[in-house]
Amino acid sequence: MAVTTSPLLVTGGTGTLGSLVVPLLRDAGHDVRVLSRRGRESGDGIEYVTGDLIRNEGVERAVDGAGTVLHLAGGPKGDDEATRNLVRAASRAGVRHLVYISVIGADKVPLGYFRSKLGAERAVAESGLPWTTLRAAQFHDLVLTVVGKMAKLPVIPVPGGLRFQPVDAREVAERLVELTLGQPAGLVPDLAGPTVYGMAELSRGYLRACGKSRLMMPVRMPGAAGRAYRAGENLTLEGAAVGRRTWEDFLAERVG
Ligand SMILES: NC(=O)c1ccc[n+]([C@@H]2O[C@H](COP(=O)([O-])OP(=O)(O)OC[C@H]3O[C@@H](n4cnc5c(N)ncnc54)[C@H](OP(=O)(O)O)[C@@H]3O)[C@@H](O)[C@H]2O)c1
Repeated sequence: MAVTTSPLLVTGGTGTLGSLVVPLLRDAGHDVRVLSRRGRESGDGIEYVTGDLIRNEGVERAVDGAGTVLHLAGGPKGDDEATRNLVRAASRAGVRHLVYISVIGADKVPLGYFRSKLGAERAVAESGLPWTTLRAAQFHDLVLTVVGKMAKLPVIPVPGGLRFQPVDAREVAERLVELTLGQPAGLVPDLAGPTVYGMAELSRGYLRACGKSRLMMPVRMPGAAGRAYRAGENLTLEGAAVGRRTWEDFLAERVG
């Protein structure tokens, strides 16, 4: 039986992170509504609403009657615009808690994706709605996609000085559920994985797990973004909450 009377809206509920979050919320007894650009059949405690945050279509209907909005929808670009559209509709609908997932380094790494996440964070913080934002490190799933593509090349280019602290998306999902069902908390401590790796270590772990070998070639990432990464601006070395599952644990499950 549902414990809430108003549905909880999850944008991005069909994505890597969202598809982990949605069952947790539903199993905790909440009515869950998911916004997706593609029509889907509602059922099993989940109502699907069709809409597009960047095109600003279907957003009013998605937020209508929702007490809490967990905003996970995102893409390579346009998260700032999408979030401004969501915030406008959520404000009109009288949403009581807006929860947002951002990325560690949103305020520091000079790349379009990070800038748009920062714009989205600002739209949430300046919305006038009670809010919570969590910045997470890169998910293992994303790192797997990247190293998997690199491993198709005969020689893997390894940008020197780049480090990552990949985190398990299931742990991010669990933390978001806790935040969504809790009180609005503003910008909460970052969530990162338990270990910092260089790109070569991430690729080596993957190659080991799938029994391949490749030559690696050091390269230099140019420009301001390269400098920011080499300075570790995409990391939170102190003050972050730290996940338990390592890259090696993840590889053993997915690739082993
Ligand atoms: N992946 C990472 O390493 C990482 C790290 C830190 C933070 N994050 C953030 O976490 C969030 C989820 O990431 P993810 O990896 O789970 O993403 P994902 O698997 O690529 O899924 C993206 C989701 O966003 C929805 N979406 C995209 N554009 C939309 C639009 N214009 N209107 C409505 N919905 C739209 C998609 O829904 P439909 O396709 O059903 O429309 C899908 O559910 C993103 O905000 C991302 O920036 C990701």
